Amino acid sequence: MKKVKRILATILATAMLISVAACSAVDTKTTVTVAATTKDAAATTTTAGTDATATTAAAGKTYRVGVAMPTQSSERWIADGANVKKQLEDLGYVVDLQYAEDDVQAQVNQIENMITNGANCLVIAAIDSSALVNILAKAKESKIPVIAYDRLLMNTDAVSYYATFDNYQVGVLQASYLVDALGLKDSTKGPFNVELFAGSPDDNNATLFWNGAMDTLKPFIDSKQIVVLSGQTTFEKCAILRWAQEVAQARMENILSGTYSGGAKVDAVLSPYDGLSYGIAAALEGAGYKVGTGWPLITGQDAELMGVKNLISGKQAMTVFKDTRVLASKCVKMVDAVLKGTTPEINDTKTYNNGVLVVPSFLCTPVAVTKDNYVKEVIDAGYYTAAQVAG
Ligand code: BGC
Repeated sequence: MKKVKRILATILATAMLISVAACSAVDTKTTVTVAATTKDAAATTTTAGTDATATTAAAGKTYRVGVAMPTQSSERWIADGANVKKQLEDLGYVVDLQYAEDDVQAQVNQIENMITNGANCLVIAAIDSSALVNILAKAKESKIPVIAYDRLLMNTDAVSYYATFDNYQVGVLQASYLVDALGLKDSTKGPFNVELFAGSPDDNNATLFWNGAMDTLKPFIDSKQIVVLSGQTTFEKCAILRWAQEVAQARMENILSGTYSGGAKVDAVLSPYDGLSYGIAAALEGAGYKVGTGWPLITGQDAELMGVKNLISGKQAMTVFKDTRVLASKCVKMVDAVLKGTTPEINDTKTYNNGVLVVPSFLCTPVAVTKDNYVKEVIDAGYYTAAQVAG
């Protein structure tokens, strides 16, 4: 009986929503408010027309959140965008999610449009961490709070909070893997030829990954157990603009033809991101290296599906898993808090100085993943299905 009542109530509610939606259409926008039952689920929304808006019933105000993501060329950002959008929509927010395909000016234009279209809050994963200063000043003038997503927004006072991972620790995990796998704590081990890659110089994270990795590798470079035969050991020399796979491949090809053509072998490559690792692997294959026989250890980051498959095949030795669902939920809580005038959970008030202020941050925990623990970390955790990884 109870069940029948519930079904009837649902049918009734749905019918009401449809009729409210039909009545309240203004231009192409439709606003539907459903009485709030809990603080977090303040409103429910239904869609009609091309641009539906939700009203947060508790506050009696429509809240729009602009979400600016860097690119769809990398899996993680697709997942980030989808997770942030879904979680915000579950709370009743209207989300304008935009990708700028690594074009800095396109991202500026997208953010400008979000402001013009009445965004109440902005979530931004910058392409170039320092290029948004002017548009962020505009957001501040319009009293729009800004949350930096994954990448810190530099040289601006217009950022309220920062949701990210412990970026220095990412580099530590990558380099520690190499230290352990090469057995470097035994001072008789080595010398090993290790080549180094860094991320995009305009992404503040890239420096942190590099610093974490290099602080970990330095004692072994000093003891000559690690030799960087190319001699390219500075961030500037090793950085790959916009994290481009083909640029990493070209750099690795140059290193192989310039330094290793005499017969020396690469033992390991520090790569900060799975996308770069694919390019590095392609260059190695091109130079005659074969997975399974003297194939170098290659690190990575993001646990992309291809990256995880490469762990299983042996093409990649490790990746760093950063659960975008967790990051999205921390970010969404920040949005919800700033819009409700409360304080979100943060766990770091010291590390992320953007040149103007130390941005209160929440750092999620990155996890090193290899062929030995990927089942537990990414499959059992529901990030990928076993079929996806096997397929
Ligand atoms: C992110 C990494 C990602 C890289 C390339 C960085 O800012 O933190 O997770 O691998 O960008 O997209």
